[in-house]
Order: sequence, then C-alpha cells, then structure tokens
Amino acid sequence: MVRRDAALGAAVTIPFCDPRLCPSAGCTATVCTGKAIASNHDFYMRSSAVIPGGVNSSIRAFKSVGGEPYIVARGEGAHIIDVEGKRYIDLVQSYGAVILGHAYPAITSALQAAAVDGTSFGAPTPREMKLAEAIRERVPSCERVRLMNSGTEATSTAVRLARGATGRKRIITFYGNFHGATDALLAAGGSGIATLGIPGTAGVPEEAVANTLVVPYNVVPEIGTDVAAVIVEPVAANMGVVAPAPGFLEGLRAACDKAGALLIFDEVITGFRIGPGGAQAKYDVKPDITCFGKVIGGGLPIGAIGGSKAVMENLTPLGKVFHAGTLAGNPLATAAGLAALNELTQDVYMELGARARTLATLLRDACSSAGIVAQFPVVGTLVGAFFGAHTPTNFDEAKQTDEQMYARLFHAMLAEGVAMAPGAYEALFVGLGHDDTVMQQLAERTHRAALAATRA
Ligand SMILES: Cc1ncc(COP(=O)(O)O)c(C=O)c1O
Repeated sequence: MVRRDAALGAAVTIPFCDPRLCPSAGCTATVCTGKAIASNHDFYMRSSAVIPGGVNSSIRAFKSVGGEPYIVARGEGAHIIDVEGKRYIDLVQSYGAVILGHAYPAITSALQAAAVDGTSFGAPTPREMKLAEAIRERVPSCERVRLMNSGTEATSTAVRLARGATGRKRIITFYGNFHGATDALLAAGGSGIATLGIPGTAGVPEEAVANTLVVPYNVVPEIGTDVAAVIVEPVAANMGVVAPAPGFLEGLRAACDKAGALLIFDEVITGFRIGPGGAQAKYDVKPDITCFGKVIGGGLPIGAIGGSKAVMENLTPLGKVFHAGTLAGNPLATAAGLAALNELTQDVYMELGARARTLATLLRDACSSAGIVAQFPVVGTLVGAFFGAHTPTNFDEAKQTDEQMYARLFHAMLAEGVAMAPGAYEALFVGLGHDDTVMQQLAERTHRAALAATRA
C-alpha cells in the first residue's frame, strides 16, 4: 500500500514495483532486486522513462556496440546475475573498482560492521585517517592524502591544486586519456597534433578548455613555463590498454621539472590495480600529484589525491586551494577500501597478473583459431583487446582497429554468458573471483564466441 500526501497527491513511501509479485519474490520495496519485473527489456524501458537513456553512466547504454543493457540484480565472485536470472562471467568488475570479486566476504562484513555505527557525520572519523595512512604507506610519493567521492573529483581537484600551487593556468592532457567528466579535461584532441581549447562535448564552453592543450600519447611534448601541470594516465586504460613507451614517463618527469610544471598521474584505474604502488612503482617515476579512485573504495564511491607535503598543503584549510565534500572520507567507503587494501598482498597481485596473462592467452587462442586478427596486450593485471594487426601506441592508432569486430565478439560473448565492457576502448578486468574453474569456462565460451563472431 502506497501512502500518499493528501495535500499534494504525491507518494510519500516507496512503492513496490509490482504489488502482486514483489512480496512473493522476496523483495522489499526499498531493497529492490528487480525480481518482479519480467525482463531486462521491461526494466530498461521503465528506467528509460525516468533516467536519461536508462543509465547513470553513458557507456552502460550499449550505444557503441548496439542492443540494450542487461540489468544486474546481484553479483558473486567473478559472476553477475541479471534480473532474468542469467549468469555471466564478469570481465567489467565495475570498470576496475571491484578487484576481489563481487560481494567478497571481507568487504561485506566490513560494511555491515561499519553501517551500524552510522553512515555519514560531516566530521573527521577514524577510518579516513587509516585509509590515508594505508595509501601513504604503499605509495611513497603521497606524503599527504585527501579523500573525496569519485575519480572525477580527484582529477578536477588535482588540476585546481596544480594551478593554485604554481600560479599558472595551462594544463597538458593526452589524446585518448580519460580523466572523468570534468570540464577542463573534456577537451577534444586527435590526429597527431596538439589541439588547444576545443570542447570535447556539448556543454563545455571554449573558455573552460581554453587553457587545456591536448597532445598525442607516448610522445613527450614541449612544456612551456606557463604550464601548471601535465596530467597523464601512466598506463592508458581508456583507449584499450596502451603501455607507456620506454622513456615516456621519465621524459615527462624531466620536462616538467625543467619547466617548473607539476606532473599528475591519474592512477584512478592503475592505482592498487597493477600493484600496491601503482604505475609509479612499476615504472619508477614519481609524480607530484596522484589521483586515485575505484579500488581504494572496495567498490563504493571514492576518490583521493596524494602528493608531497609541500604541494598538498596548498589545499584548504592550510592553503588557498579550496576543496570540500559532504561525503568525503565516507565511513562506509573507507571501511570497504581498508578491507580491500588489506587483502591486496604481493601474492594476490602475482596471482592477478597470472590470471590476466591467462585471459589474454585464451582470447588470443580463440581468435586465432577463428581467423580473427587481434592483439591482447597485458600490462600488469590489465588486459586490452584490439582487433587489428598491430598493438596501438596512441589513440589515433587505436581508432584504426576494428570496432565492429569488437561489437560482434561482445555480443557473441554475452550470448555465451561472458560480460565484457560495451565499448571497444575499455580494459578487461580480472579479479580474485576468476579462479581456475572460471578461467576454464571462459576459455570454452570464448572459443565458441569467437567462431560465432566471425559468422555474425
Ligand atoms: C583514468 C580515469 N580517471 C578518472 C576517471 C573518473 O573516475 P570516476 O568514474 O570515479 O569519476 C576514470 C573513470 O573511469 C578513469 O578511468
């Protein structure tokens, strides 16, 4: 029964999706499992009537691969289960935020224990200090750490901090790197030349990107003395997976030092994913500011920036660069993040690296036996998929690969019960849930899917 506000006629309680079916499906009105809505399609139609495009993050809408998204009811380990009850081996893992597998017991019990003590206070709490210390211990360039709510907030705060600390305006970004939905970093780029001040999306005025210079990845650009910061994905994981060319990161470090600019590593994906010290440890290059997200929240919303004491103390309340957030350092996100980092030993990373290599090998085998020309680069625990004869080194090259083939394999894999990201330029993620049995199933399904993709 839905209670209504008599004066306004509006519902004041959350209704069941279907009052006849929900109670018998074991649903409550607020913890909706989707069980009362018959199909992914019905659910998507209903969502689309209230959420633009039916999704809260654009890529989830399947626009670049065609079709309609599955609606996830729940996940366990390496699997997700949609509202129709179909199980998929999940290679998305929340775009890298989930590393231990879905509903990992150490995370769910940390969350349960934390939730009963309250979910947000607007005051300092013990776990935010512990998470900041845990990050500092593992990533020595981060003498000070500020927690926030998303990777996007981390990159936008890092840019503001760099501008405030240097007193300069200009920033340099790399074509094909992605730093979240922040205006100054949504500049257009491409075709091998430096591009200045062209918005990459409607809604971003030219003024917002007037000081953003976009240059090709894997080439050290000229860095003028008007540059506040260079922001880079140290391993590019949003144009497929592209490793930094030998000397690229070292070259950026030297060029930034020469120009007095700050070097920002966006480790929102690579941080705690390719190793405890992230890409900066793997390549032994120390940035001035590091952006984190994803893994450090154990699957809950989080972001963070870290850097030297001198740079970070430019942030308010010590310095003049403003940062604040109602939910920053959230008690649940920090509980989940601490539980995740606590599990991520060197052995776990070795294991994840081995699984990433197995994933690449089984994809390679399946494609080559189906006659599909493809490359599956592995960087640490990250796997990329490119359909073409060469492994790209930048976004112009990545865009020359066969997106249609990706879309065909994507749908063939989905039909076999394997979920890849619905876009050709995302990484494939494995986690602790992808054990030997899952990898064996993955190999069999991938073989069938690759053959099906050639017939599609
Ligand atoms: C490298 C990188 N930086 C920043 C972001 C933005 O993070 P969030 O989605 O948490 O805002 C992403 C998101 O995928 C990312 O891949």
